Amino acid sequence: MKNYSNVHILDHPLIRHKLAIIRDKNTNTKQFREIISEIATLIAYESFKDVPTQEVEVETPLEVTKQIVVKENSIAIVPILRAGLGMVDGILSLFPAAKVGHIGLYRNEETLEPQEYYCKLPVGIDEKVVMVVDPMLATGGSACDAIKMLKKKGCTQIKLMSIIAAPEGVKKVAETHPDVEIYVSTLDRCLNENGYILPGLGDAGDRIFGTK
Ligand code: PRP
Ligand code: URA
Repeated sequence: MKNYSNVHILDHPLIRHKLAIIRDKNTNTKQFREIISEIATLIAYESFKDVPTQEVEVETPLEVTKQIVVKENSIAIVPILRAGLGMVDGILSLFPAAKVGHIGLYRNEETLEPQEYYCKLPVGIDEKVVMVVDPMLATGGSACDAIKMLKKKGCTQIKLMSIIAAPEGVKKVAETHPDVEIYVSTLDRCLNENGYILPGLGDAGDRIFGTK
């Protein structure tokens, strides 16, 4: 795959260890859900390196000092339903005050085109750093649509976080939205004829919610 300056592939051994567990078809719903959340925390740690900050004064037991803290009200997390929901708590563990919006999209199983069914976003989202989250970046259609919806609402600082990506999806999002920074924990081989990522982990939504 071509190198894109807005694509960051984390490829960390700790995440690889966790990925090996969730790729396993015998991993149960509880463990799958827990690990999706843990990986989300780890990706968030890296992808928010440039989080907006502000200076505050803190009085230590010895003196007053100027310190840096995360800027208040600066972040929104937007999971793509359903599977993106599984990543939210892991990110909120780092940013407990972040606002959360929801975009509902499902892939038409024949055309693989995303269909929108829900959108509820926090007031003032256009002034925040918006992190779109979805564990799977397959054709890239869902992520592209979600980003397009956010841009229509005036958002200008958008990032995307995925756990497993296919080269096809990375290319599509990176080229359609070159202004969006994309963070993925691993890049898999390709898509199969049904648009599933290989080797992948199967249907993330079904495995998070135990629906199959
Ligand atoms: C999955 C996944 C992504 C999308 C990725 O959702 O969670 O949203 O497919 O595929 P794409 O990159 O080809 O668009 P799905 O449509 O299965 O809905 P669900 O999360 O409700 O199961
Ligand atoms: N959505 C999933 O949940 N898994 C894939 O492999 C592709 C899209």
